[in-house]
Amino acid sequence: MPTLNFKGKSFVQNHHLAVPFHQLVPQKEKSLTDKLSLHDNLIIQGDNLKALKALLPTYSGKIKCIYIDPPYNTGNEGWAYNDNVNSPMIKDWLGKVVDKDDLTRHDKWLCMMMPRLKLLRELLSEDGVIFISIDDTEQHRIRVLLDEIFGEKNFISNIIWEKADSPKMDADYFSTSHDNTLMYAKNEEFYSINRLILDEKDLKHYTKIDEKGRKFYLKPLRAMGGQGETRESRPALYYSLLAPDNTEVFPKLKDGGDGAWRWSSKKVEKEKDRIEWIQGKSGWTPYFRIYAENSKGRPPMTIWYNRDVGSNRTSKNEVNEIFNDTNAFNTPKPLKLLKRIIKISTSKNDIILDSFAGSGTTAHAVLDLNKEDGGNRKFILVEMEDYADSITAERVRRVIKGVSGSKKFKEGTGGTFSYFELGPAIEMESILQGESLPAYGEIAKYLFYTATGEEFDPLRINEETNYIGASRDYEIYLFYKPDLNYLKSTALTLEKAKALGRHNGKKRLVFAPAKFVDNHTLTELRIEFCQLPFEIYKLKG
Ligand SMILES: C[S@@+](CC[C@H](N)C(=O)[O-])C[C@H]1O[C@@H](n2cnc3c(N)ncnc32)[C@H](O)[C@@H]1O
Repeated sequence: MPTLNFKGKSFVQNHHLAVPFHQLVPQKEKSLTDKLSLHDNLIIQGDNLKALKALLPTYSGKIKCIYIDPPYNTGNEGWAYNDNVNSPMIKDWLGKVVDKDDLTRHDKWLCMMMPRLKLLRELLSEDGVIFISIDDTEQHRIRVLLDEIFGEKNFISNIIWEKADSPKMDADYFSTSHDNTLMYAKNEEFYSINRLILDEKDLKHYTKIDEKGRKFYLKPLRAMGGQGETRESRPALYYSLLAPDNTEVFPKLKDGGDGAWRWSSKKVEKEKDRIEWIQGKSGWTPYFRIYAENSKGRPPMTIWYNRDVGSNRTSKNEVNEIFNDTNAFNTPKPLKLLKRIIKISTSKNDIILDSFAGSGTTAHAVLDLNKEDGGNRKFILVEMEDYADSITAERVRRVIKGVSGSKKFKEGTGGTFSYFELGPAIEMESILQGESLPAYGEIAKYLFYTATGEEFDPLRINEETNYIGASRDYEIYLFYKPDLNYLKSTALTLEKAKALGRHNGKKRLVFAPAKFVDNHTLTELRIEFCQLPFEIYKLKG
C-alpha cells in the first residue's frame, strides 16, 4: 500500500508511546456535580496529546464514537506545533505559528495529527468509528495517513456536508460550499450504522392506505434492471401466477422476452396478502405492498444538506443564542450535524469523545439526544485553550440548565459533568528523587495500565494490603507511599511476600522499590517482582 512521506514522520511515528502519563486533576468549582469522577461526562482542559494518553488507563477500547474537528491548516488559524518530540528539527518548530508562507506547514500538521490519531485509535472500541471534519487543504493528505493508521479496509465513507447556504461573492474562483467528514471504523467487520428514522419526505412515498389504516406503496413483482431480470439468469424465478380472472401470467420483459419474478413461488404463497393485481392495457400485472411500519429506516446518504443538518450560519446563530454574543466562538459546527453523526453511530449507553472540542457542540448534541430518546450516552471533551472553562464548559452548563432568553434552548437537557485539568507528568525516573510524588491511586492507575493494558478500577484498591486490582493474567500489588523515606526504606521481604496470601491461580505482580527475597522463592510463591521505578515496561515487551 502506498504511504505518505513527510518531514518529521520518523520522529513522530512512535511518539505517542513516549508521551508521559499525566495526572488528571479534578476541579470542583468548574464541574457541574458534587461527585467528581472520571466515569462522569468529562471536560478536560489541556493539550489533547497528553489528555488522550491520560485517558487510556480508564477508556482504552471503550469509546464508540470519536468526532474531531481539528484546525484545517488553512494558514489563517494561528496554530503552532507544540509537541515535545525528541528531534532537533522538530524542536525548532516549537511555538512558531504555522502560516501560509511556512514551507513545512503540511509536514508540521501531519506531525501534529499522527500521534493523536494513534492514541484515538487505541481509545476506540472494536465496533467504534471515528469522524473527522476537514476541508480540501489537508483532506487528501490525512486520508492517506488514516489509511496507514486505521487500515485501508476500515475506510467507511467521506460524507460531504453542505456548510454554506449562499455563495461568497468575493471568492476569486469557486465559493467552497462543503466540508468533508471522513469516517473510519476501528474494524469494519464489527461496526454498524443505525438507519435514520423515516422523515416526512420519505413517508410521502407511502401514498396508499390499507384496510387497517397502514401506509404502503406498491412495487412491481417482476424483477427490473440488472442482471437478475431475465429467465436465463434466474430460471427458478420464471413461473406462472394466476391473475384474478384465472389467466396465467408469466414475467415478461419490455421487449417481450422471458423475465423473472423477484420472489420465489413459495414466498408469493406465504406473502399472498401483500400481492395486488392491477389490470392495464396489456393485461394483469402483480405488485407487492411495502409498508412504512416495516421499514428499517433509511440508510444515511453521503451528501448531507444544510437544510437537514444546518450550515455554518446555523451554528454561529446557535452559539450566539447561547452566549448572546456573536463573537463568542468563530468556528462551531451545527448541533444537528453532530446529532446525526452520534445518532447513526451510537446506542443509548455509548461514550462519545471529541478531543478538539471548541465550543462543545458535541457535548450539547449528546445531551440533547439523551433528552430526546431517554439515552444515557456520555461525552468526553478535550480543549486546550483557556476558554475550555468560559466557552466549552460554559456552553454545557447553560444547555444543561436551560438558556434564559433563548427559544431553542430554554428547556434544560439536565445532566452533569466533571471538569479536570492536566496535572504534572507521572515520571517514574523522578519518583525516587522525590520530585512531585503522585498519590497512591495515581501511580496505581498508571502502573496497572502500563503493565496490563487493561482498564483500571480504582474501587479495587486496598492500600492496607497493597492490592490494586487483577487483570486477565495477574493479581497486582503496589508497595508505595508518596513519601521519600518510605520509598527508600521499603522492600518486598519474605514476610511481606507470604502475607500476600494464597494465589488464586493467577500470577502475582508486585511493584516495590526493592526486594530482599531470592528469585527461586518468588517463583514458588508465583510472584513476579517489578522494581520501582524502572522495570514497569518489562511485561509489555
Ligand atoms: C475548529 S475548532 C472545533 C470546533 C468544534 N467542533 C465546535 O463545534 O465548536 C478546533 C478546536 O480545537 C482546539 N485545539 C487545537 N489543537 C488542540 C490540541 N492540541 N489539544 C486540544 N485542543 C486543541 C482549538 O483550540 C479549537 O478550539
